[in-house]
Amino acid sequence: MTEYFIAPSIIAADFANIAADVAAIESAGADWIHVDVMDGHFVPTLTVGPLFVESLKRVARIPLDVHLMVSEPEKHIEAFAKAGANNLTVHVETCLSLPAVVEKIKALGCAAGVTLNPATPASSLDSALPLVDLVLVMSVVPGYSGQKFMPEMVARVGEIRNKLNALRSSARLEVDGGINAQTLPLMKNAGADVFVTGSAAFKNPKGAFEGVRTLKQIALG
Ligand code: DX5
Ligand code: ZN
Repeated sequence: MTEYFIAPSIIAADFANIAADVAAIESAGADWIHVDVMDGHFVPTLTVGPLFVESLKRVARIPLDVHLMVSEPEKHIEAFAKAGANNLTVHVETCLSLPAVVEKIKALGCAAGVTLNPATPASSLDSALPLVDLVLVMSVVPGYSGQKFMPEMVARVGEIRNKLNALRSSARLEVDGGINAQTLPLMKNAGADVFVTGSAAFKNPKGAFEGVRTLKQIALG
């Protein structure tokens, strides 16, 4: 039976109250904490690095799911692994050899994930699919929290689910960008089993606990 996970994206949290936000999402049933690392180069925005992950690790009880939106990720993966990342996901657009970077992540003891921008063909992941623990499908152009879901990415989830099934892979299929109570079921039906959520979790008018609890119920429902 498929287990469905919610992975709140910490970049939508309040960094001055991070321990309280982590406690709230954990008690609401969050499964992973998604950490959006942006370098101001591969994407226009700057967010956090390994030092932040190290601090987060001290207060988090659930795994840290680190999404690297950085150029030349192979230069940084060791630092993130040492900081306590459990999953490390890299963009195919940033890797000369995706299988080589995946192997390096696994050698560091992390689960290896691969992802791609909406404009990048799904076939660009093919060489790495037999090796990965996780595939992340972006349903927005990466760079910012709070963007509108791209419905054309539902079919991409279905396509990648079929490829994983054909490989008899048990890799997780995660979706990221504009996931909320309306869009989550579309992605679940298409075959996703991990749902990243920034705004729908942390900007819920009733607070992050309620935001995560609602989505978790929808994911399990
Ligand atoms: C987009 C990031 C996402 C995003 C999620 O660049 O990778 O993780 O912050 O935020 P929402 O759920 O608000 O789209
Ligand atoms: Zn992300």
